Amino acid sequence: MSTVLITSRVVGTTVTRPLEMLRAANITIAKNPHLNAGQNLTEDQLIPLIKGIDGIIVGEDDVTRKVIEAADCLRVIAKNGVGVNQIDVRAATERGILVTNTPGANSNAVADLTFGLMLAVARRIPFSHNATRQGRWDKFIGAELWRKTLGIVGVGHIGKGVARRARGFEMKILGYDIVPDEEFACQVGLTYVALETIFREADFVTLHVPLLPSTEGLVTRAHLGMMKRTAYLVNVARGGVVSSADVYDALVKKELAGAALDVFEQEPPVGNPLLTLDNIVTTSHIGAFTTESMENMGQTAAQSVIDVLAGRWPAFPVNPEVFGKS
Ligand SMILES: NC(=O)c1ccc[n+]([C@@H]2O[C@H](COP(=O)([O-])OP(=O)(O)OC[C@H]3O[C@@H](n4cnc5c(N)ncnc54)[C@H](O)[C@@H]3O)[C@@H](O)[C@H]2O)c1
Repeated sequence: MSTVLITSRVVGTTVTRPLEMLRAANITIAKNPHLNAGQNLTEDQLIPLIKGIDGIIVGEDDVTRKVIEAADCLRVIAKNGVGVNQIDVRAATERGILVTNTPGANSNAVADLTFGLMLAVARRIPFSHNATRQGRWDKFIGAELWRKTLGIVGVGHIGKGVARRARGFEMKILGYDIVPDEEFACQVGLTYVALETIFREADFVTLHVPLLPSTEGLVTRAHLGMMKRTAYLVNVARGGVVSSADVYDALVKKELAGAALDVFEQEPPVGNPLLTLDNIVTTSHIGAFTTESMENMGQTAAQSVIDVLAGRWPAFPVNPEVFGKS
C-alpha cells in the first residue's frame, strides 16, 4: 500500500474530493502535523516527514534538494498548481522522481484576478473602499480599461485567458512569448511584439511567464523606465520575474502610474517598501484561490499521484524524462 503526504493547505481541507480519490485508490494519507499552521512548509519541516512517503502533493512548500535526498521511496511530487519554482526539479529528475503540475486548472481564476487587479489599481477601488469605511466620501480619479492597449508577457494558459477577457473591453492586445501561438493570436486579435514594444506601448502590462532561470529578472529596471507615465504594471506570475526594488524605484519616480502585485520575491512581503506606496494594490498570492480552481487543481494533483503510483503516465509531467526509471 502506498502512502501520500499532503502539504498543500487546501487539498483535504477546502477541497475534500482528492482525499476520496486517493482512498478509493487504496492510498494511505500520512499525517501532516503542520496542517493548521497556515504557512508553507520549510525544508526543515519537510525533511522529517518525507521518509516512507511514496507521493507528495505540495503547494508553495520548499521541496529542496535536501528534502528530495532525504526521501527513501518517493516516486511523485505533485504540485497543486502550475509554478514549480519551489521544487528542485533537477534533483527530483536525478533521483528518478516524477514531478507533475496542473496546467490550465487555475487559469480562469488567475485571469479573472488579473482583470480585478487592473480595475482595482486603475480605478483606485481599494482606496475608495477604505476611505468610505472610514466615514469619508472622497473622490478618486482613475483610468479606464476600455479600448486601451494591453501587453501580455507570457501568452500561455493564463495569458490567453487574459487575452480572451480583454476582447470584452475592446482592448488592443499585444503579446510577448518565446513560443508564439499564431492560431490563437488570430482568434483573439493578439499581435506578438518584442518585449520592449510591450513596455513602450501598453497602457497595462501584465506578467504571466513562469519563474525559471531564463525569466528571473526578465523585466528589468530599463523596461519599467520605458513605460508610459499613465501605464500600470500587474504581476500575478512570480516575484522574481521583476525585482521589487526596481518596481519601487520606478513607482517612487512616477515613471508609471501604478502597480498591482499578487506575488513577491519574499512572501509574505513583510517590511517590503512597496507596501508603503499609495500607487500600488496588493493581494496575498490569491491568484488560484477560487472554489472552482481549487477543485480542478486538487483533483488533477490527486489523479497524477494515483496514476504514477499505479505505473501509469500522468496527464501533466514536468520532467517526463524520468518516467520508467522510478
Ligand atoms: N498568482 C498566482 O496565484 C498564480 C497562479 C497560477 C500560476 N501563476 C504563475 O503563472 C505562471 C504562468 O502560468 P500558466 O498556467 O499560464 O503557464 P503556461 O506554461 O501555460 O504559460 C507560460 C507561458 O510563458 C512562456 N514563456 C516561458 N519562458 C518565457 C520567456 N523567457 N519569455 C517569454 N515567454 C516565456 C511560455 O512559452 C508559455 O506560453 C506560472 O508558472 C506561475 O508562476 C501564479
